[in-house]
Amino acid sequence: MTLAFGPRPGLDQAVTSPHARAVESALAFWAEAGVDTCYSETPIDRLAEGVARLKARAVAPRPVQAAAPAGRPAGPDVSAAVAEAKARAAEAQTLEALAAAIAAFDGCGLKVEGAKQAVFARGNPHGPVMAIGEGPGAEEDARGEPFVGKAGQLLDRMFEAAGLTDRVFITNTVFWRPPGNRTPTLAEQAVCAPFLHRAIALVQPKMLLLVGGASAKSVLQREEGILTLRGRWFEWHGEDGETLPALPTLHPAFLLRQPAAKKKAWLDLLTLTERLDRPGRPG
Ligand code: URA
Repeated sequence: MTLAFGPRPGLDQAVTSPHARAVESALAFWAEAGVDTCYSETPIDRLAEGVARLKARAVAPRPVQAAAPAGRPAGPDVSAAVAEAKARAAEAQTLEALAAAIAAFDGCGLKVEGAKQAVFARGNPHGPVMAIGEGPGAEEDARGEPFVGKAGQLLDRMFEAAGLTDRVFITNTVFWRPPGNRTPTLAEQAVCAPFLHRAIALVQPKMLLLVGGASAKSVLQREEGILTLRGRWFEWHGEDGETLPALPTLHPAFLLRQPAAKKKAWLDLLTLTERLDRPGRPG
C-alpha cells in the first residue's frame, strides 16, 4: 500500500508540516507491519448493509444461513445476497461475463471493507484442475489476479515441478480481499459460492484442488482441520447433482511459514497428478 501523498491544493502546508510528516511516517510504519486498513471506533455491519440493499430490491429467497460448526451460533441470514448471487451467476454464459457479474455484485460485505477491486481467476480456463484458494491478499487486491503474491509464486513453482503449469485454473472462495488478510467468514464464503459454482460449471474441471483449510472446509462443508483433511480424496457435490473429486492440500502461505510441511504438500500434488494422469482419464 502506498501512503505517500502528493501535494494537494490547500493541503500543501499540512503535508509538509512536521506534524503531517510524523503522521505519514507512523502510517508507513503500520503499513510495513501489515496494518493497511483503517477502521472507525464504531463497528459497521457491512454485511447487514448489503443484505438490506438486496432486500430492498424485493428478492424473496429461501432462508440461507451460513453453516456454523456444531455448538456455535448460526451465522447471519444471507439469503437475499445468496439468491442475488445465484441469479447473477446463472446469467453468465462465459467466464468473462462471470467476472463482470462478480465485479458488479454488491451483496458481499467484503466489497466495501477496503478491497480495491474484485479478484476472480487466472490460469487455463480449459485446464482439468481447478485450484480454489481462500481469498485474495494485498498483492492480489492490487493486481486483480489470484495467487500472484509470495504464496502464489510458491504455488506456481509447485505446479511447475508437478507438471501442472497450464493445466490449472485458479480462483478463490471469496472475490474481495478480507481486510488485514483475515480468514473470510462462512457467510462471506456462502454469498460468493454461487459464483464459484458457476465457474466450476463453465470450466468443467476434472477435479478440484482445495488450497488451505478455509477453502477445504467451505467447499466440502467439513469441520475438520486441514491437517486432517489434506491428501485425502473427497467428493464435491454441486447443486444440480454434479460431483467432482476434490483434494484438500496445505496453503502455500502456511508452507512459507513452515517449510518442513512442503513435503506433505508435494505428496498431495503427486496424489493429484496420479489420478489426473491415470490411464483412461482424459486430462
Ligand atoms: N491466498 C489465497 O488463498 N488466495 C490468493 O489469491 C492469494 C493468497
